[in-house]
Formats: sequence, structure tokens, C-alpha cells
Amino acid sequence: MADKLARIQAAFNVTDEEVDRIADRFCQAMAAGLAGQFSPLKMLPSFLDKPQGSESGCYMALDFGGTNIRAVYVELLGGGQWRVVRKNSAPLKHLQGGYDYTGADTNAEELFDFIAEAIINTANPQRELLLGHTFSFPCRQLGINEALLINWTKEIRTAGVEGREVNRLLAESLNRQGGGGIKPCVVLNDTVGTLVTAAYDDPNADIGTICGTGHNTCYYDAERAMIINMESGNFDELPVTAYDRNLDELSEKPGQQRLEKMVAGRYLGALAGLIADDVFGAEFSRERITTEDLAAILNQQEGCFAAGEEWGLRQIAALVVRRSARLVAATFLGTVRFIDPLLTKQHTIAIDGSLYEKMPGYAGHIEATLNTATGKKTGQIKLRLTKDGSGIGAAIAAAIIARR
Ligand code: BGC
Repeated sequence: MADKLARIQAAFNVTDEEVDRIADRFCQAMAAGLAGQFSPLKMLPSFLDKPQGSESGCYMALDFGGTNIRAVYVELLGGGQWRVVRKNSAPLKHLQGGYDYTGADTNAEELFDFIAEAIINTANPQRELLLGHTFSFPCRQLGINEALLINWTKEIRTAGVEGREVNRLLAESLNRQGGGGIKPCVVLNDTVGTLVTAAYDDPNADIGTICGTGHNTCYYDAERAMIINMESGNFDELPVTAYDRNLDELSEKPGQQRLEKMVAGRYLGALAGLIADDVFGAEFSRERITTEDLAAILNQQEGCFAAGEEWGLRQIAALVVRRSARLVAATFLGTVRFIDPLLTKQHTIAIDGSLYEKMPGYAGHIEATLNTATGKKTGQIKLRLTKDGSGIGAAIAAAIIARR
């Protein structure tokens, strides 16, 4: 067993050389995707520039990430400041409450009616109100307010949304529910919202990323004066193990989102479960260990699992978490190499997501990986936790549109 664990540890150890190689491949995939060549990176235009920092006024924001929806009524004060006036949040799946809007047996109309109701309850509109919509899935954008869902990710299966324009679905539901005064005017990815929020008061912010249930990164393309959503969760030029292949095969969309399945919160618990089954011959099953369990185990919380299981699980948790952070850091490095090959400028990477915020050691591993890779230029790349960036960013984006 010790031998087996040692072999797995070696397979999950992403060396400094591998970090460097992955960063290079990622950088090449960015160039290929932008040039319209075959690439795992979709490089989707957002039609959105960075904010100036002076945007102000009251806006509605909808943050639709896959686990919860959040409706937020925000007052932007300018100078990088804002105030949340009201907010409501609801899970998309609540089995005790008798609903699940994420399964294949519900449809687009049911899902968006549920969302519209939450928005109307939060907005309480006396007059017309512009709404920014953060929709955290890969979308082909035809314009700032027109986004077609390419495919669901994060195991969501709601029928009748793929291929459709999500802000039209939202506007129709708002009308049906008597909220026609609330006007969706922009749709953006959560990575884009996170970058926009950080850039509201930090001109060096040029990368936005989510390390949470899902994973993805966007960057500011100065040449195009536009933020590009890379959909980096689909990156696949990576050193995979048999466990990664197995998890991919068991997933809703085999072959897709390979990086995401190696790094994101939706999958890390299941991955640890598969490894534990193999090493200890236990029957953890994919659903028994969650990513929150991994955090508890690494926090040395007792009593989550049988004493005999705990030691082994802690080793496994440590290695999947460390690998996740190092892979993600390699893609950040690739992004910086693309924007600024000689690393002459300062870069702020705006990060949101539960994994980055709460998983013990995660932020430290990313930072250490970046520091080693940048050597003498350590400190040029800054990581900044941008909490609730996707909601606030949607309001800032609405303000950018209002100004236009
Ligand atoms: C989606 C991205 C999103 C990320 C983080 C991924 O599954 O494809 O659009 O940014 O999750 O929420």
C-alpha cells in the first residue's frame, strides 16, 4: 500500500519543468484559438472593455453560477467603491424544497421563471432598472447582450437551454412575471465579472479567474481592447493519470473540460474517492467524498471519517489539492507569457471561488508555483481575492453599457 501511494504521489506531482511546459503549451493554445485554429481554448470575445473606475449609479446584477443564483441590487459609488443595497440567494437544487432546476427533466422556461422571481423580489423596481447578468458557462457572444449557451458544464443538464440566447430567455421570463421594467443589458462570464471588479480600482488587473465549483480564466486583450473568456477549463494538454481518465468517463460530458475535471471543486472530492478506492480497496464511491470533506480533512477536523481512513485520505487530499493549484498556476503563467512575454509590467490576477478562498494551502501553492517560475521577477504577478466579483462585476458592466 505504501508503495502504491508513493507511485500515485509521483504521478500527481507536477514538477517545475512540467509547470513550465504546460505554461508554454497554454500560451500556444491561446494564440491558436485567437487565430481561429484548432485549440482547446475557445477564446470567446466578451465585447467588454475594462471599466474606468468612475462608473456609478444603481443596477441589478444576477449571478448564475450553477449551484446558486444570486440577485443583487448594487449602488456603484465611483472611485472603485460600491454598496450592496439588497441581495437574495437561492440554490438551484433543493431536494427538501421539492425542486431541482439543474436536471434534465426541467426546462429553460421553468429555470428562468424561477430566476426572474428572485430578481423581482430583490429589485422591487419603481422605475426601469438595467440588469447585468453573469452567466458562468461557455457562450458564443454575438454582442454585449447576446450570448448563446454552447454547452452546459459542471454537470448541469436543464433541457432546452443549450444553443439558445440566455438573456432573451431571461427577459421573456421577467416579462411573464411582471418584471418587464428590469432590462437585461449585458451578459458576461463570471471570470469577466471578477476581472471587471478588480479593474474598477486596480489598473494592473488584467487576468480574472474562478477557482471554485468550476474553473476558468479570462484576460484583458489590450490590442482588441476587450476581455477574452478563454474557457480554460477545457484545456487538455496535460499529464493525466488513470484516475483522471476514469473520472472523465464517468462524467456527464466525457472528453470535455479536462483541466476543470483535474482542478475544480465539483470534481476533486470524487477524484480523491477514486484514488482512495484503489489504494485502500475501500468503497468510497464517487459521491461519498466531497471537496468540502477534503478541506475538513486538511484542516485536521476529526470525526469526518473512520480513524483508519483519515490518515490515508489526508495524504490523498493533499496531493489532489496541490496538483490542482500547480496546474492552475501553470495556466496563469501561460497567460502572462502571452500578454507580456518579457514580464516587464505588473499583473494582478483577480481570483474568486471557494477553492481559492477556503481550501487549506491552495492559495499558498499557487503563489509558490508562480514565484519559483518567475524567479528574479517574483512580485510582478499579484494574486488578489476578489470576493463576489461575479455579482458586482455584472453591475459595473451594466454601468459601462449605460454610459455608452
Ligand atoms: C464554465 C466557465 C466558468 C467556470 C467557473 C466552467 O465550468 O465553463 O464558463 O467560468 O466554470 O464558474
